[in-house]
Amino acid sequence: MKNLQTMRWEGHCLALIDQTRLPHEESWVECHTAEAVADAIARMVVRGAPAIGVAAAFGLALAAQKVCDETRENAWRSITQAARGLRQARPTAVNLSWAVDRLLKRLAAIPGEGAQLASGALSEAKAVYEHDARINRLIGHFGLEVIPDGSQVLTHCNAGALATADYGTALGILRAAREAGRRLHVWVDETRPYWQGARLTAWELVNMGIDATLICDNMAGHFMKLGRIDRVIVGADRIALNGDTANKIGTYTLGVLAAAHEIPLFVAAPLSTIDPTCAHGDSIPIEERPTEELTHVHGKRVAANGIAVANPGFDVTPARYITGIVTEIGVLSPPFEPAITSALKAQHTLA
Ligand code: MRU
Repeated sequence: MKNLQTMRWEGHCLALIDQTRLPHEESWVECHTAEAVADAIARMVVRGAPAIGVAAAFGLALAAQKVCDETRENAWRSITQAARGLRQARPTAVNLSWAVDRLLKRLAAIPGEGAQLASGALSEAKAVYEHDARINRLIGHFGLEVIPDGSQVLTHCNAGALATADYGTALGILRAAREAGRRLHVWVDETRPYWQGARLTAWELVNMGIDATLICDNMAGHFMKLGRIDRVIVGADRIALNGDTANKIGTYTLGVLAAAHEIPLFVAAPLSTIDPTCAHGDSIPIEERPTEELTHVHGKRVAANGIAVANPGFDVTPARYITGIVTEIGVLSPPFEPAITSALKAQHTLA
């Protein structure tokens, strides 16, 4: 099995596999500044909630390196300015601000001048990377509980190694199931309009040698009705305290379809995807993406001229459609509000 790498720290820059060009071209983009990292996040060179958080952490480390000869005050001013730019790169995935906040908090506690902040920022960014890689394996381990032998699983978008530092969340669980010797078949939603399923998830599954079939998003109900899909597993970009979950546009539709067919739907995500400031899903900001993603395919216009276009990148699945949330400390079950509150408390105790 080919080990997919999303990003690597090169000592002086962050190298990102260019996900806009996958699967047909494996090229790397080198980011030498925090602004370049913010731009790569905005252009979806790197994407997926955990991966953009980790990239943003390295972005701040780059900002700190640039001011390592400055006084603490000057360095701090530049670092917080870079933090603002990184936070604004994409609005929905909370992991981005989570990682930026984690770095700023660490730096605020480090005494010294620019040089000390620069070395502290880099070691914290590396820790964020290692943490993500490690907890995804734990999500995979706990997720075995929801993928029995012989499962026929539908997944949407890409929540694999490419969307994280390593291993993946929803796809990490399927990988763990495979590593545990379970038989499974994966149905892959192509995930219009940006094709994360057809391009990225399909590529990861083929590389892992997992039995999988690509379908159009609007085929899911048909295959559920035929009894060919027995569970749905997706990632998340932001989870509210009541369990409402923002994920790639189309996830809500799957929630409704799964409920109608009495099929369980599981969300897989690290606890950093839970937004403690968000009581319910209505307050989650939804990214509006360029209209060309709908009107054009490979640069060629397919939509009728003059048609208006809406392109929200995410939707919110209400907690009532979610059977369980697989995290690095175990599977959370409804009612989610108390389960999430105690998971966050347990996480603080462990930290
Ligand atoms: O727009 P994208 O490709 O960044 O959206 C990604 C998703 O919606 C993923 O499901 C989510 O970020 C979880 S990735 C582990």
